[in-house]
This record gives sequence, C-alpha cells and structure tokens, in this order.
Amino acid sequence: MEKVVSGIRSTGNLHLGNYYGALRNFVRMQQEHECYFFIADYHSLTTYPNPEDLHGNVRQILSEYLAAGIDPEKATLYIQSDIPEIPELYLLMNMNAYVGELERTTSFKEKVRSQPNNVNAGLLTYPVLMATDIIIHHASKVPVGKDQEQNLEMTRRFARRFNNMYNQEYFPEPEPYNFGEDLVKVPGLDGSGKMGKTEGNAIYLSDEPQVIKKKVMKAVTDAGPTEPNQEMAEAIKNIFKLMEIVSEKETYDYFLEQYNTTRIRYGDMKKQLAGDIIEFTDPLREKIKAIYGDQEYLKKVAAMGREKARASAARTVRDVRKIIGIKSF
Ligand code: TYM
Repeated sequence: MEKVVSGIRSTGNLHLGNYYGALRNFVRMQQEHECYFFIADYHSLTTYPNPEDLHGNVRQILSEYLAAGIDPEKATLYIQSDIPEIPELYLLMNMNAYVGELERTTSFKEKVRSQPNNVNAGLLTYPVLMATDIIIHHASKVPVGKDQEQNLEMTRRFARRFNNMYNQEYFPEPEPYNFGEDLVKVPGLDGSGKMGKTEGNAIYLSDEPQVIKKKVMKAVTDAGPTEPNQEMAEAIKNIFKLMEIVSEKETYDYFLEQYNTTRIRYGDMKKQLAGDIIEFTDPLREKIKAIYGDQEYLKKVAAMGREKARASAARTVRDVRKIIGIKSF
C-alpha cells in the first residue's frame, strides 16, 4: 500500500478548481492507499488572515472535505497546525534549502510582483513547508492540480538532497498523481488563466444556485465562429474545458459540434453549464452546512486525525533527529 499526502490551504471556501484538481481524487484514493489529507492553515498565514476568520476557514474546509466524501475512518484527516512535528521538521529541512533556488520558483517570483509590500520569509520557504508536509509521512504519491507541479519538483529535490547528504535512502521522492493522466487545470471564466480565490473568478462548492448561474452567464465569450472548425479563442476554450470537466461527455460533444458547425449559441451553452454545476453542487451544499453546524462531530474528527497524523509524523522526526546526529543527554 502506497502512502499518499495532500493538503488544501484554508483561505476560504473550496472552489471547483480545488474539487476537480484535488479533492475528488482524495476521495477516490482513500479506498486503496494509506492517505493523509490535511488543512494547510500554516500556509494560509502568508497572507495574514484575520484571527477571527482563521478558525472559521479551517472549520469550513474540514466540513467540505467530509461533505465531499472523505471518510475519517479510512483516511487520516487532520489540521496542519495540530501537528507540532511539522514545524520541527520544517526547521531542519530549511537548513538544506538554498535561498537562490527558493527565489527562483515561479510562485515566489509571482508574489514578489503581485505583493511587493509583503514579501515575507514564509513565502520564500513555502516550498520547504510543503515538502515537509509530504515527506513527514513518507508519501510517494501526491494528488494535486497542475499549479502544484513545481512545488512537487522542489519536494523531490529536498528529499533527494537529504538522502544524499546523510548517505541513505530515507525519504521517497514523491510524484504528483492523477491516475496516470495529466494534472488538471480548471480554468476561470474571465477569459484567461486558472480558477482561483485570489484570481477572483472562482465558483465555490457552497455558492447558491442563483450565484452560480450569474457567474457562469457572465463568462467571457466572443462574437462566435464565422467558419467551420475555427480555432477557439482562449476564453471559449476555457468554457469548453470547464464543460468537459463537469458535464456529461454527450453534452460536451454536442456543443463542440455546434461550435464546429458555427451554430453555437453561447447563451445556451452557459445555461447548460450552470445547470450541470448546480446539479453537482446541490447535494454538497446542504451537507456542508449540516456538518459545519455539528461542532461535536468536527471535534471528534479533528482529534482522531491529530492522533493518527502525530503518530506517523513523530516516527519520522525521531528518525531524522537520529540521522542528523541530535542526541539528548
Ligand atoms: P491550494 O490550497 O491553492 O489548492 C489546493 C488544491 O487544489 C488544486 N487547485 C486546482 N487544481 C486545478 N485547477 C485549479 N484551478 C486549481 N486551483 C487549485 C491545487 O493544485 C491543490 O492541489 N501549496 C498547496 C497546499 C499544500 C499542499 C501541501 C498540497 C500545502 N502542503 C502538501 C499537497 C501536499 C496549495 O496552495 O494548494
């Protein structure tokens, strides 16, 4: 049985990108593997959430994991900040990470550009914390979306470097995983790029049907194809991509055919897409609310996850201290 680790930052409600890029696969993987799924609340601190919001966000995501079908008896479901072994290993791993390589990561460079007034050291060492999350349970597979590819590359590099430095095969080199297929990138509906919270273009699992309809109907389009099989503009490709992900294959094929024969009416396509998203999120929405309100259940789940995750993490930290040569008197 292989070990699997993945996490989601607690920056607010989950959107379709999180679901189709990651959470859906967590649910599938928990059946066959030893899985550790967590809520990355330390990672969310790089953007200074309100202290009042922080716990609510964690509670929301925990409810969403459970509503989507994570079974806390099968998978280990926990909150990152409940595991003190994580910051300890993170400190040790920071000694083997070079400032130059961290500065060169795409996500760091992007942050320097987008928020020049808040280039904190937590952002710089973000990949080290993420690597720690993964290797602390000796994971070999990490279900993530396309945007996490480079972070996984860094994780493999840190694991390899540790092994080489201490001359032993201690950490596996984990691979991003999507059942043998390419990693997923769920696009936004604002013409370009991925769906994301910071991008401001996200459709959330907890959005009410009218909100979903409004967001989808506002999706950027163009004047429509004028000749058969015309190359699609980026914005149109994105709507098709989203439909490919959330709708039935026949629905997708139908609209593609309409596009290729220049008969497409984007309004009809958006209506269909909105309807399909609503149909999928409808049962989730109610479940999320019910679980969110069940404080006792959430407490039980978090306690169970904490215990299992700590047992696994503590073994690793014990080994690593020994490998490095840390000894108590
Ligand atoms: P985060 O919180 O931004 O996103 C959580 C997961 O959702 C995926 N995702 C997407 N997939 C496809 N299309 C999209 N538009 C889209 N938006 C988000 C992400 O790829 C991710 O799998 N650094 C991580 C959190 C993390 C982590 C880890 C992940 C911390 N430690 C250890 C795996 C293993 C992050 O910020 O993801």
